[in-house]
Amino acid sequence: MKLALRWQALLIGFLLGTSGAFAADNPIPSNHAVQLAQRPGHAGIASANALATEAGFEVLAKGGNAFDAAVAVASTLSIVEPESSGIGGGFMATMHIAASNRDVFVDAREMAPAAVDAKDYLNPDGTPNRDTSLKGPLSAGIPGEPAGLVWIAKHYGKLPLSASLAPAIRTARDGFKPDSRLLGSIQEEQKNLMRWPASAAKYLPDGKVPAAGDIWRDPDQAHTLELLAQYGDSGFYSGETAQKLVDAVNSAGGHWTLKDLASYRAKERTPIVVDYRGYKIITAPPPSSGGVAIAQILNILSGFDLSQMDKAHRVHLEIEAMRRAFRDHNDYLGDPDFVKMPLDMLLSPYYADGLRQSILPDKATPSSMLAPSSGQDPGMHTTHFSIIDADGNMVAITSTVNYVLGSTFVAQGTGVLLNDEMDDFALVPNKPNVYGLLGSKANAPEPGKRMLSSMSPSIVIGPDRTAVIGSPGGSTIITQVLEGILAFVDGGDAHQVAAHKRFHHQFMPDVVMVEPGVFDAATTDALTRMGYTFKDREPWGFMNVVIWDRRSNKLDAASDPRRADGLGKVQ
Ligand code: DON
Repeated sequence: MKLALRWQALLIGFLLGTSGAFAADNPIPSNHAVQLAQRPGHAGIASANALATEAGFEVLAKGGNAFDAAVAVASTLSIVEPESSGIGGGFMATMHIAASNRDVFVDAREMAPAAVDAKDYLNPDGTPNRDTSLKGPLSAGIPGEPAGLVWIAKHYGKLPLSASLAPAIRTARDGFKPDSRLLGSIQEEQKNLMRWPASAAKYLPDGKVPAAGDIWRDPDQAHTLELLAQYGDSGFYSGETAQKLVDAVNSAGGHWTLKDLASYRAKERTPIVVDYRGYKIITAPPPSSGGVAIAQILNILSGFDLSQMDKAHRVHLEIEAMRRAFRDHNDYLGDPDFVKMPLDMLLSPYYADGLRQSILPDKATPSSMLAPSSGQDPGMHTTHFSIIDADGNMVAITSTVNYVLGSTFVAQGTGVLLNDEMDDFALVPNKPNVYGLLGSKANAPEPGKRMLSSMSPSIVIGPDRTAVIGSPGGSTIITQVLEGILAFVDGGDAHQVAAHKRFHHQFMPDVVMVEPGVFDAATTDALTRMGYTFKDREPWGFMNVVIWDRRSNKLDAASDPRRADGLGKVQ
């Protein structure tokens, strides 16, 4: 039934072609040929923590480029923002290499160990076991971040890892004052941290949450980073660190082998590229669902002139496009090395034409008319940073340990806080994960497979301006980035794009999640009459954006005003 509906939509698209009533009418010529020969001559970095942004600038000042700065920012975040990302997790990077005018995507996503067993994540009654999928060693995938950093430094950086990792190592050795978000995360996860001795020793010194203003050091992680700086991949994926990781995981009930670690590789993949009204959007391919969903939504929306619509109708069309893209996410997407995905269909303008035809002009389509359901609230841990350097190199990286403080499991002697990314698999078919996302066989756990992500680091090249953009937010990453792109297309500067109020629909649950104040009363009334229901939700991500106005050749960087600790800076 689901599939039949989808093919019907596709067929209508084919019949109408691009000249149908709602077909794409794009007055602005394609921008895909834009050559970025221009250089900004100065740099912009926006990240979730001021120390990380400054680490990036420090490495630029030493002669590094945006890629070296990215290694510095990511590794510093591993020390100062461990609740969101770190070397025990993974990331996805969308990058533009100025010298060769090339766009690349680096997949440093975690993977399941060879001994993965779906039964470990089930209660005896067959319901999902949220404890094993979100806490402790079973919840952790094999980390991808160290391999990703080594890959970026080796292939695109100008400096040795010893230089780009230096600020993180120094911060870990000399110490820093944890910000209120980190202290709050430790407070929130105190009970879980106490379950694992190395976690308690690291995050609860003297058995309690550190006080605001305390200086905090991370010598074990400094040592692990030094081995990475000295030996590259083998400094983490074999030798001392690998042995300590395997020993710690297995003695606490996990099933990792040295071979799992030695076989991990960062992978370069072709990014998803979509053209929306003359803007070229370069974004994340599977194993993220983000780029496919953003492309599908923009393809649907490109058949409407949103700028001519009242707010309620514009929002209505955006929600309906989101609903349809998330339905496909649930069914089709997974690790491209394991699943064949109908990407040609999902990304085709004809398919989008068909989906557009199924949207009623003034009425919500109940998701139940399209397929089955469920849901939960997303959190806000994971991090995104954006960089443009003086030569016009660009990096968008979203990095994560998944939920707050990941698995809360620190591997003894390494300082490495492991991720809890296994929950991003569809561990039980059609039962929601912690972000309410459903999944099918395409995203079922398998040995060596990468779990589907929503991370959507993106670069948007318009006729006159370029943006590097992304955000954390679980499943809402996709819609936050989409809305950020639309705000940029509408002319927003970096602050306006980051501050833009947000809403989200993910097919199931069939409700529009809203940031308080996103719609005025008249818009809410009009949308209610169309059949929408709303749910207030907090928090809403942590967007970090850098924009390059190529007419004035000025950069503009902003960190989400919803949070106090980020820093967007141009220099
Ligand atoms: O890869 C993903 O989609 C998730 N692990 C991201 C988690 C996230 O954004 C958490 N909170 N904001």
